[in-house]
Amino acid sequence: MIDPFGRSVSYLRVSVTDRCDFRCVYCMPEHMSFLPKADVLSLEELDRLCSAFIGKGVNKLRLTGGEPLVRRDVMKLFRSLGRHLQTGALRELTVTTNGSQLGRFAAELYDCGVRRVNVSLDTRDADKFRQITRWGDLGKVLAGVEAAQAAGLQVKINVVALRDFNDQEIPELIRWSHGQGMELTLIETMPMGDIDGDRTDQYLPLSLVKANLATLFTMDPLEDRTGGPARYVRIRETGGRLGFITPLSHNFCESCNRVRLTCTGMLYMCLGQDDSADLRAPLRASSDDAVLDAAIDEAIGRKPKGHDFIIDRRHRKPSVARTMSLTGG
Ligand code: 5AD
Ligand code: SF4
Repeated sequence: MIDPFGRSVSYLRVSVTDRCDFRCVYCMPEHMSFLPKADVLSLEELDRLCSAFIGKGVNKLRLTGGEPLVRRDVMKLFRSLGRHLQTGALRELTVTTNGSQLGRFAAELYDCGVRRVNVSLDTRDADKFRQITRWGDLGKVLAGVEAAQAAGLQVKINVVALRDFNDQEIPELIRWSHGQGMELTLIETMPMGDIDGDRTDQYLPLSLVKANLATLFTMDPLEDRTGGPARYVRIRETGGRLGFITPLSHNFCESCNRVRLTCTGMLYMCLGQDDSADLRAPLRASSDDAVLDAAIDEAIGRKPKGHDFIIDRRHRKPSVARTMSLTGG
């Protein structure tokens, strides 16, 4: 699949549920309203949609949420998608999780062919963890990370950089993850969805974080590119890799290789734009994939050139209306 700007779309991210057992303050309001269950695609429908994308050249698939591992029977979906790894059509099946259920599912994920997981963890202080996730239990997440490593999964830690919250702790988080053989990626807050409170207060430009880290560590820039927004350095003191995702202070759209599917079958061609394509209607209209394939082609033909995130005092409204939990980051 080639978009109008010549970018090849080979990476699909699928939010399998908008529900979550946490309520991270930068992600959702505490009293979040979720989608009616009837609107949500069945696991069989999700499998069919993913398989259609794989048939059209997607070779990397990431399941996200919400929290993907709280969806009932989600392992059936991992298991059935795993067949595409066996045929070689899919190079990689990954998951982004808050880690709360990894203790239960790590071994089974490995068995389904998953080799890498991204775990969101913004602090290792139990009180702060509770404060930022509202409902989360740090001990359970850390046990989940351990279980994942024990099962043979490569773990990457995602840290959202938050002003006056975890800025001081970032060097320690880096030493800890690298010490455990995990890479770490720092993420800037993105203006997505209405949350309780003001996002301007949370926004911490990673340029500042990086300048501070440069006083503590020697960072060698790496050329590694994943087609995504992350830029990487190797930290000489730890030997580990550190990523920076800077959607606000840098544009990374020229090499974008991905599209995002929600659990209701809406395809978002860009994380930072509201334009979407409904794939549920063509999916349900016919059991023949021709209609669906045509709808996918039409959507890819509309992939926009880039996004336009802004967070400042004059732009308090989110850039896009939906929360990250709908499109899964
Ligand atoms: N801005 C930046 N990151 C966010 N995440 C959730 N909401 C936001 C936001 N508004 C992060 C989660 C997780 C990843 C999927 O996205 O913490 O690491
Ligand atoms: Fe849940 Fe992830 Fe949103 Fe936190 S950031 S509330 S873990 S979906």
